[in-house]
Amino acid sequence: EKSGYPHFMLKEIFEQPRALDSTLHSLLSRNDMDFDFERVTIVACGTSYHAGLVGKYLIEELLQIPVDVYYASEYRYRPDVVEDSLAIFITQSGETADTIAAARKAKVSGNETLAITNVVGSSITSYVDRVLYTNAGPEIGVAATKTFTAQLLALEYFAIRAGESMGKLSVSQVRNFINSLRKIPLYVENTLNLNDIIEKEAKKIYKNKDMFFIGRSMNYPIALEGALKMKEISYIHAEGYPAGELKHGPLALIEEGIPVIALVPEDITYDKMLSNIKEVSARNAYVIGVSSNMDVGKYVDTLIKVPETELYLSPFVNVVVLQLLAYHAARLLGRDIDKPRNLAKSVTVE
Ligand code: F6R
Repeated sequence: EKSGYPHFMLKEIFEQPRALDSTLHSLLSRNDMDFDFERVTIVACGTSYHAGLVGKYLIEELLQIPVDVYYASEYRYRPDVVEDSLAIFITQSGETADTIAAARKAKVSGNETLAITNVVGSSITSYVDRVLYTNAGPEIGVAATKTFTAQLLALEYFAIRAGESMGKLSVSQVRNFINSLRKIPLYVENTLNLNDIIEKEAKKIYKNKDMFFIGRSMNYPIALEGALKMKEISYIHAEGYPAGELKHGPLALIEEGIPVIALVPEDITYDKMLSNIKEVSARNAYVIGVSSNMDVGKYVDTLIKVPETELYLSPFVNVVVLQLLAYHAARLLGRDIDKPRNLAKSVTVE
């Protein structure tokens, strides 16, 4: 049931505070979060792959351990390198054929395996040593929304607990991190209050044929995710880029009026992002800044002011803005939002 919402996607976007709250509850009740590994390999497809990329930045930052992230469809062509690695498989449905095939391969190569999935008893769970469940509730819209933020939360929690069990984080660091996770549902709730402002922005850009999403560090995968959401439900050609890569080619595509959505968290990427914004506004792009810092307003055509969060939590608020932007663009274009053309909710062929 859509409970009064015109689409499942919008309902599921608005369900995120509750979904995150219940995911955190179920994670906090786990008492089997002891880990010991030297490397991490993350394998997934689509939106789950983007969650994995965010996970890479987090785990490398908190644990100082190298993390590789693979598309499941590519991981299978990798040679069987036996290493002391924990392999993490992220799949909302637990039924994605490529991700399941990758999990079997990782096991054969001697990796310890962990799955992050939203569906209890799904196929992936029988191929791995351990499972972390996101508790986001069923997701009906083909475009993944609440399960993505729940995956981010599971990865944050995993990184904190792994850091604790491996002696890389102090007791007080763990306590502080966990306390900050408890604020995520409220940050997301406050971001959802920007819906009308985001809809207005969608009205300004939905007629464009192309658009760019840029970010750095943990928000680079969020730029990829924003572009994927835009492509899959509005059918607008959208590219996500690490902002620093623009001048290595794609800047040639920037022309007057092309929308560039720039993610500008108040972290180490802040100044560099402002430089990248200047590069595109000098070419008369239409720049939408997403930031908690009002100063960004001076450099962009429109600022969407998101709630201020702790370091590492900006992806949660930024992605909600991009989900809503894609939703409204698709709605203005009259697309079949819950069932985009050519796509299926879970991809059970390799
Ligand atoms: C995009 C989307 C897909 C899935 C991908 C993996 O909105 O939903 O890209 O993320 O097909 O699906 P799961 O996570 O079920 O393995």
